[in-house]
Amino acid sequence: MPRWPTAPTPRPPPAVHRLAHNGPVDDVDSFSALLTPEGQALLEELRDHDPGRELAVATRLRRHHPAELVSAALGQARLRQRAVAKFGAADAQRMFFTPQGVEQSTRAAVAEHRARRFEEIGVHRAADLCCGIGADAIALARAGVQVLAVDRSPLTCAVARANMAALGLSRRVEVRCADVTEVDVAEFDAVFADPARRNGRGRVFDPEAYSPPLSWAVETARRAPHGALKVAPGIPHEAVPEDAEAEWVSDGGDVKEAVLWFGTAPRVRRATVLPTGASLLGTGLPAPPVGPVGRWLYEPDGAVVRAHLVADVAERIGGRLIDPTIAYVTADVLHQVPYATAYEVTDTLPFNLKKLRSLLRERGVGVVTIKKRGSAVEPEELRKRLRLHGSDSCVVFLTRVAGSPTVLLAQPAERR
Ligand SMILES: C[S@@+](CC[C@H](N)C(=O)[O-])C[C@H]1O[C@@H](n2cnc3c(N)ncnc32)[C@H](O)[C@@H]1O
Repeated sequence: MPRWPTAPTPRPPPAVHRLAHNGPVDDVDSFSALLTPEGQALLEELRDHDPGRELAVATRLRRHHPAELVSAALGQARLRQRAVAKFGAADAQRMFFTPQGVEQSTRAAVAEHRARRFEEIGVHRAADLCCGIGADAIALARAGVQVLAVDRSPLTCAVARANMAALGLSRRVEVRCADVTEVDVAEFDAVFADPARRNGRGRVFDPEAYSPPLSWAVETARRAPHGALKVAPGIPHEAVPEDAEAEWVSDGGDVKEAVLWFGTAPRVRRATVLPTGASLLGTGLPAPPVGPVGRWLYEPDGAVVRAHLVADVAERIGGRLIDPTIAYVTADVLHQVPYATAYEVTDTLPFNLKKLRSLLRERGVGVVTIKKRGSAVEPEELRKRLRLHGSDSCVVFLTRVAGSPTVLLAQPAERR
């Protein structure tokens, strides 16, 4: 056998020299450098820094610290700023992130709602399978649950561990770097899983293309007394297993996720609206009646629409649909319900650009909020073509009433 000359194995350079150059850290050693006293001091200096002055700040910091560490700290500081919207400033400024981790993590309000439900059903020990940077594990731990948090990415696990330490939760959360398919869930009274819904090419929609696939997660959830699986809000109702409850959750009006619950209420459909936390449980009502547009128009929350619970909202407000295929409810009486936003209808007219423009001008409306359901009109295109001037504002609904393209002008109920 020929003996090839072998080059000496290069020694890895010290951790700080392998830090990613332009911001976000890209490996465990580089990330660990941020946890050293010097890394922490840099992060502290960068708290609340002005992104507009980043160059000047970096130049100043590089006089006293390795350039790579300064870049990594700046990258982490940027991620913390991005994370404020999800976690609030107090936590975000103490936590650690990766770009993907901040993107994929559950926002705190949603994770807290789920953790409250786990607490209510008496869960003490949960496995968080696919824990990412740990947003769900944090909420569970704060709700008093003992958590095993598992992810297969070593960097993500290092970040999750740092987060538990930063938030004083290390005693409640064990972070384990492993493939979740190898975890024995027998000792847990609940399984939570948030499979990755993105691959190298972007978002995946087929639940069997999740990592790990949804069918694996369902089988695993069924092995514990309770289970909750986070899935995309667009999951078709037919894909919800017979023995699962399906909950759609919105926060501030945006639908954030759907969760399949096992061990709670099979076949129930639930819409939860945050921040109030009001939960509407489906009662299997038939389609609501259809009738003329009344004084009030109700726009059901996206979670209600996704959960197919518009009929339940209509019943609560004694309302009817404006069209059999459109999720707008109308009524003659004002009811404030957390599941729908109420508007007072001022005008109902067939869709016609010229007539709409002249009516809005006549009213002195310069600012419109355009909402649509069942209309092909592009709101931004319409806004341009309306060329509005004026000091008043109104809401323009582009929709169908009894099959005809219709415009409703309205004012939010709270502005009256
Ligand atoms: C959507 S993220 C989880 C986010 C997390 N719930 C949070 O709020 O921070 C999905 C995670 O699943 C991990 N993952 C995907 N497949 C896995 C597998 N087979 N075993 C372990 N982790 C896996 C990915 O590394 C990624 O961090």
